[in-house]
Amino acid sequence: QYVSWDAAQAEKEGYPHFMLKEIYEQPRAVRDTIRGRLSMTTGQVSLPDLKLSEEELLKIQRVVIASCGTSWHASLVAKFMIERLARLPVEVDYASEFRYRKPILGKTDLGILVSQSGETADTLAAQAEMIAHAMPTLAVCNVIGSAIPRRALGSISTNAGPEIGVASTKAFTAQLAALFLFSVYLAQIRNTLSSEECYRLLSALGELPNQIDAVLRSAAPVCERLAKEFYGAEDSLFLGRGIHYPIALEGALKLKEISYIHAEGYPAGEMKHGPNALIDETLPVVCVATKDPNDPESVLKYEKTLSNIQEVTARNGRVIAVACENDQEISRLVEHVIFIPSTVEALLPILEVVPLQLFAYYIAVERGCDVDQPRNLAKSVTVE
Ligand code: AGP
Repeated sequence: QYVSWDAAQAEKEGYPHFMLKEIYEQPRAVRDTIRGRLSMTTGQVSLPDLKLSEEELLKIQRVVIASCGTSWHASLVAKFMIERLARLPVEVDYASEFRYRKPILGKTDLGILVSQSGETADTLAAQAEMIAHAMPTLAVCNVIGSAIPRRALGSISTNAGPEIGVASTKAFTAQLAALFLFSVYLAQIRNTLSSEECYRLLSALGELPNQIDAVLRSAAPVCERLAKEFYGAEDSLFLGRGIHYPIALEGALKLKEISYIHAEGYPAGEMKHGPNALIDETLPVVCVATKDPNDPESVLKYEKTLSNIQEVTARNGRVIAVACENDQEISRLVEHVIFIPSTVEALLPILEVVPLQLFAYYIAVERGCDVDQPRNLAKSVTVE
């Protein structure tokens, strides 16, 4: 229906764009996605809408996730979460590829469809392929009653509220929270984590909305200043390692889809296999260099990322790092650092994506782009 201009402005609650409003709604989106699914007294996760019993879930040998765009990036993070916490193999496909590759599927596979709108044609077709192979499917969607959850056996809804900006932000972090809950739930029923480890993970999740608030307060002015320095860039590179690699991809997608700057996400360890040739003093390289100091694997990946950063700065590359507040080393190595609080490795993606969302937003504003309705794009791609 027709919404008058001032009514639309009112819906922005004073923000200049829906996208900025939705970036700032992320603490609430994550809080509302966790609410009712996590009990800190029992340390248990409860997901009543799964519609899959523990017994049925224990028969699952593999998780197969199909999705598109930002939801595909959330799916890649979920692969790290589920494999690391629940020790269950996960395959992630672009939905548009999945439906044509004649995938080998069976009823011991669990299908997960991740979609903000729940109406994406490619993801719906991937779901149909899974159902045709007698697979149970779960929907991680932000629109109750949309096609994908209606056709799924069970769901874990992301309660982020309506997302208007074409560039997905709060739905993405809500997807990560929902998929993290599912990963811990699987770990609990598969006994792959001790109750102490589960408790540590779940209390870190409980802390997250306040930490997102803190990132918004501290990172926004830094990102706004950096945008004024980098908005003229023609190209950019986003690097990350392990669970942080999908966040590099997401940061690149955010920048390209609203500012129209060519941006590419890459695994940090891959730089020496080609992309190092791109490095010069004109190329901004955004690097996710965060760590959970209590997790030796996380620290090891971080140290490898530091050497990747040094490979870039040695070639006069201009590095903007996203790092954790307790990090003393990073500021000596790079030109710009955006600090975030630290948390467990599996939840760092939810915090480290926020500066990348803000960086893309402020660059698009500097370039005078239509932030909420970028050219050539639609909020929900209901055609193939
Ligand atoms: C993300 O910012 C984009 N708008 C786009 O990649 C989106 O994630 C993709 O089209 C999938 O949409 P869905 O989550 O509604 O299925």
